[in-house]
Amino acid sequence: MGWLLTFCSLLFLSIVTSYASSPKTPGGLRNVTADELLEYGVVIHPDSSFEGCVHQSPINECRYSRRDNDKKSGTGFNAATDLLTDTDSGAEAGASADGGLKARTDKAHVSDSDFVFATGTFIKRIRLASASRGWRGSKVRAFFLIDSPTAPHGLNTRRESAGEVYAYFPSEGAPELGGWVRSLRGGDTRVAAAPFAAHRHFGKTYKWMLYGDDDTVFFMDAVKQLVANLDPELPIALSDNLWFSNRHPNPNAPRCLPCHMANETLPSLEEIFMSAPGRVEIRTTYQQRTISKEVYEAFARNTTQVPGERYRPEPVCPGVCTTEAACKPVVDSGSTAPCTPPTAHGGAGMIFSVGLMRSIPFRDALDCFLTFTNATGGDQMVSECLWRHGIAFTDPGPLVRHSYDYQYVIFGGAPRLPSLVGLELSGTEEPCNALCTWMLRNVVSIHMHARIKKDIKALAAQQEAVPKLRQAVLKRLPRQKIARKEEGAAE
Ligand SMILES: *[C@@H]1O[C@H](CO)[C@@H](O)[C@H](O)[C@H]1NC(C)=O
Ligand SMILES: *[C@@H]1O[C@H](CO)[C@@H](O)[C@H](O)[C@H]1NC(C)=O
Ligand SMILES: *[C@@H]1O[C@H](CO)[C@@H](O)[C@H](O)[C@H]1NC(C)=O
Ligand SMILES: *[C@@H]1O[C@H](CO)[C@@H](O)[C@H](O)[C@H]1NC(C)=O
Repeated sequence: MGWLLTFCSLLFLSIVTSYASSPKTPGGLRNVTADELLEYGVVIHPDSSFEGCVHQSPINECRYSRRDNDKKSGTGFNAATDLLTDTDSGAEAGASADGGLKARTDKAHVSDSDFVFATGTFIKRIRLASASRGWRGSKVRAFFLIDSPTAPHGLNTRRESAGEVYAYFPSEGAPELGGWVRSLRGGDTRVAAAPFAAHRHFGKTYKWMLYGDDDTVFFMDAVKQLVANLDPELPIALSDNLWFSNRHPNPNAPRCLPCHMANETLPSLEEIFMSAPGRVEIRTTYQQRTISKEVYEAFARNTTQVPGERYRPEPVCPGVCTTEAACKPVVDSGSTAPCTPPTAHGGAGMIFSVGLMRSIPFRDALDCFLTFTNATGGDQMVSECLWRHGIAFTDPGPLVRHSYDYQYVIFGGAPRLPSLVGLELSGTEEPCNALCTWMLRNVVSIHMHARIKKDIKALAAQQEAVPKLRQAVLKRLPRQKIARKEEGAAE
């Protein structure tokens, strides 16, 4: 874990230094409105036979006409996109849906076509877009927001574009964004806008949106297994890789557990912090290598919850993690510590329900992004805007079941996964034990860019190969281990 933290801080530092030196925008800053930005992120299909349109409903929403949209810009636009949704959508409305209280005991059938992937990228990294087919296969559709106003036309008409669509959104500092730089990296507002623009495009044609960096790889079998217990009609944002107090994953970040865990006996805060991984967590919090038994015990027995330091999420039923629910353990413990939004790590990826996405029109998301002046990334803008909307992240649970042992983080988690699938040389050919098997089967995503440097071609090739490498390792596992119970049931 130490290396992970060190690695992350190094990465952060290198990002800060490389971007702090980027030229400031010239004068003449202009305030832009969300309405002005509605014309970006629109998929233009000169070829009207594009089959994606067939699934769109109402069909006339499918093809973009700038003139039409100008007329109904502003609230009209949202009304159009949200025709299919309950008008008074939002967390509460979704939560009252019938399926709400009874958590799904019967696993819902989810297939690849229930998923879409959304990301923001640059034309110079466009190879990564087609590399995502390695994990998306032919059924998971994708929406790429890119920095070129002209390229999407050609990209959208390519014969081989496997369920991919491309749209333009300006970069930080661009005149279209009023010259403002709202975040550290050039593509951050675009990255933040991607899921909301993707929802505007796809409408209600999907159940779950996978959101990550352009070099995030999702493992679809693990993803499907994860969401099978959850209701996509509820507003749900999933991640267990949250930045808080300058580190990630921080298992003490305010969040919730899913409703179906209400039945489980989960470790108490004291049990967590008296466990071996919990002690590691305390050392990380205190930033000390050796700590006396007395200090451990005092820390573990202290029932006051402090986000970022000592916090345990609770299952919420029905499965809607409101910010109040995420902060309730803190308030209930009598703590007055501030309960502030964590940032889900963009590289590790996040999963959003269609219920969540339709509760936030593109325009409202843009309005929120325009309030930032100093964000650390598109992931922060998105996480904070969800929080302002009243929604906090739901942690799928393994991290809590395993007393904050980072090896059970499933979003971009399992530090050993790259070596398990052969991306990194592990040195030893140790057999895959139970934990290794667990990781291979349950980790939902992996972040690639750390693994190789700036060579996009090589990165793309590796990104494309990873799902196959993982499958190959899974196939080699002894049969009985594969058959063993998976996450959620046994352990
Ligand atoms: C731009 O927005 C800021 C903050 O909302 C406001 O203080 C300022 O007056 C605006 N500038 C113009 C030219 O409208
Ligand atoms: C909780 O446990 C009861 C009894 O074991 C079971 O019938 C029920 O389905 C469980 N509920 C959930 C949400 O898992
Ligand atoms: C428990 O933790 C809180 C917050 O860190 C601290 O203020 C308080 O003094 C602690 N209580 C005990 C009994 O150590
Ligand atoms: C921007 O954020 C950085 C890091 O969070 C901070 O050090 C800096 O003071 C902030 N700048 C402004 C103008 O708020």
